[in-house]
Amino acid sequence: MAGSPFASMWADLDPVGRDGRTGGYRRYAWTREDATLREWFVAQAHARGLDVLEDRVGNQFAWWGDVDAHVTATGQGGVVTGSHLDSVPDGGAFDGPLGVVSGFAAVDALRAKGVRPARPLAVANFVDEEGARFGVACAGSRVLSGAMTAERALGLTDVDGVSMADALRASGRDPGEYGADEDMLRRIGAFVELHVEQGQALGDPGRLARLRLDEASAGVDAWGGAVAVGASIHPHGRWRIDLPGTANHAGTTAIADRSDAMLLAAEVTLAVRAAAERYGCVATVGRLEATPNGINAIASHVRLWLDARGADTSAVRATVTEVSSRVADLGGQVAEQSWTDDTPFTADLTSRVHAAVRGGQDVPLLSTGAGHDAGVLAAAGVPSAMLFVRNPTGISHSPQEFAEEADCHTGVDALTCVLEDLVAV
Ligand code: GLV
Ligand code: MN
Ligand code: MN
Ligand code: MN
Repeated sequence: MAGSPFASMWADLDPVGRDGRTGGYRRYAWTREDATLREWFVAQAHARGLDVLEDRVGNQFAWWGDVDAHVTATGQGGVVTGSHLDSVPDGGAFDGPLGVVSGFAAVDALRAKGVRPARPLAVANFVDEEGARFGVACAGSRVLSGAMTAERALGLTDVDGVSMADALRASGRDPGEYGADEDMLRRIGAFVELHVEQGQALGDPGRLARLRLDEASAGVDAWGGAVAVGASIHPHGRWRIDLPGTANHAGTTAIADRSDAMLLAAEVTLAVRAAAERYGCVATVGRLEATPNGINAIASHVRLWLDARGADTSAVRATVTEVSSRVADLGGQVAEQSWTDDTPFTADLTSRVHAAVRGGQDVPLLSTGAGHDAGVLAAAGVPSAMLFVRNPTGISHSPQEFAEEADCHTGVDALTCVLEDLVAV
């Protein structure tokens, strides 16, 4: 891909929010890095003569064709592809950006083929997909679709106590304008999100063979298994757990006299692991905020963030119920931050996407434990589907996340075929 527009987009993005020590990315919503990425998106759109529309949430859409004229004339929205540009703390390069870059590359490929879309086509950048700063994942698509109210989103705070409303103001936005956007939803007739695979299904053909896949997956080796089509997103949620303690001196307070929130945090973390194993799902405490966070002070308060997911809703719910009862016994509190039910991608769009990629031959259908804006939109009734690009090790949400250049190319080719089909009518 050296010298290609894909490579040059990748080179532009590479330094933005990259931490020199870890090699991971820190690209959080409504920060300076985010602003740089948003400007990059607009520049890419303008370089291609695409019209940038922003919804009331700040999600960006670069349109090829007059979508409003199309909606008025046909009552149907256009076709949207894309993903997100924000990251988790020390995230990898591909989670999100691969979908946006591939979207622009697919527009280039369609034009090179002389395609003239009968239906307008947009590349999208959804804001705040990871929820790394304010705690709720897919905040951009949730608020756009009405799955989360603007009031709730604006009141979310980051670790420094900055609310989303204040972060918007600091970025020159009016929080009063922020909210669900019916007009933009009407413009999205179909959404196809391309994403790096975040598990090991495509990287490990043996594992792929053991998954329950549809018959089209037979002979996946023949094609190399570089791309899969999304089937569904597993149920998943986030919970905030607050645990009490009493601040006191680390050197002068006898062990027997302590009320140490950090000990409760350790107990809860172990309880999370035990419950997840018992019920057969996955659950993680990935963030801990200790107060006052001093080396020589007993913790007066710890906030933990629980992420629980699984193929089976009742297993995830049972895990969280067990953890919640342990937290209550310890005098703490649990608050649900987000919950997403098992979300199948839209069946007819998914079949069409599947058929458009090599006639569906050797293209597996994968369910995933990762959340995506495409899942939020599918749940809101917007026809949505996904393409996954192989990740040889399956590592994600880590600087080690990786995809081969050749597989990224295959992903762009697959997306191009899908979009060519969808924009034809
Ligand atoms: C977001 O990427 C998530 O699935 O946590
Ligand atoms: Mn992610
Ligand atoms: Mn992602
Ligand atoms: Mn995600």
